[in-house]
Amino acid sequence: MAFFNRKKPELTDISQIELPAHIGIIMDGNGRWAKKRGLPRSAGHSAGAQTFRKIARYCSDIGIKHLTVYAFSTENWRRPEKEINALMKLFKEYLEEALRDFKDDSIVLKFIGDRTAFSPELLQLMEENEEESKDRDGMVLNIAMNYGGRAELVTAMQRIAADVKNDQLSADAITEQVISDYLYTSGQPDPDLIIRPSGEHRTSNFLLWQSAYSEYVIMDVLWPDFKEEHLNQALIEFANRNRRFGGV
Ligand code: IPE
Ligand code: IPE
Ligand code: MG
Repeated sequence: MAFFNRKKPELTDISQIELPAHIGIIMDGNGRWAKKRGLPRSAGHSAGAQTFRKIARYCSDIGIKHLTVYAFSTENWRRPEKEINALMKLFKEYLEEALRDFKDDSIVLKFIGDRTAFSPELLQLMEENEEESKDRDGMVLNIAMNYGGRAELVTAMQRIAADVKNDQLSADAITEQVISDYLYTSGQPDPDLIIRPSGEHRTSNFLLWQSAYSEYVIMDVLWPDFKEEHLNQALIEFANRNRRFGGV
């Protein structure tokens, strides 16, 4: 009887549907993918990095304007040193590859999160990638590294307080828009759709402010197994949702 619950006709073909302007992806399930195969967790992260390359490219190809991927949270530092080192190595490889091979690309790369925690080498690669890609006209790819929604809000509040103190901003002028403008995602639309593979039903501190009205699609696939078809499936699910933003 699903028919009676839907305002819109069921849409099944992604060429017919209205695409979200901004997709967020919580790239989760690498560890479980490796465990299932008797491999170290780092092998899951390598496989997940390949999936990331493929899915970012696919989103750009189908015309998504903003993609934010959650690569490393402020809480992920709690993991064993060996695993963190493996992740840092993968970040470095990707950032070097992007600088070396993506010269004619249209993707604009941005990094969101507190980057001061990374090595000077990684920091420089992030800055070079942002500088190199900033004038391109394609999809904005935000890579969330050492990102936490709460930490982002703390940083924003510290900056707002400093600007109020210096008479750059008056307390009465602080609006929702002003707060959005102090976040890492300033100037970008809020995510319409957030996809969480691996079946977990939680935000894990991802885009807390920005996701107030995001549509969440939780999928049972582990991130290294995530294919273009899964993204299509999420897009179709999204297109069939009825977004009301508090209205009727
Ligand atoms: C996501 O996969 C990658 C990061 C958090 C860096 P996980 O490593 O969390 O994989 P699971 O959730 O343990 O399977
Ligand atoms: C969220 O996944 C962070 C990333 C995917 C980078 P986690 O695996 O860290 O989240 P929890 O611990 O299951 O909530
Ligand atoms: Mg996880």
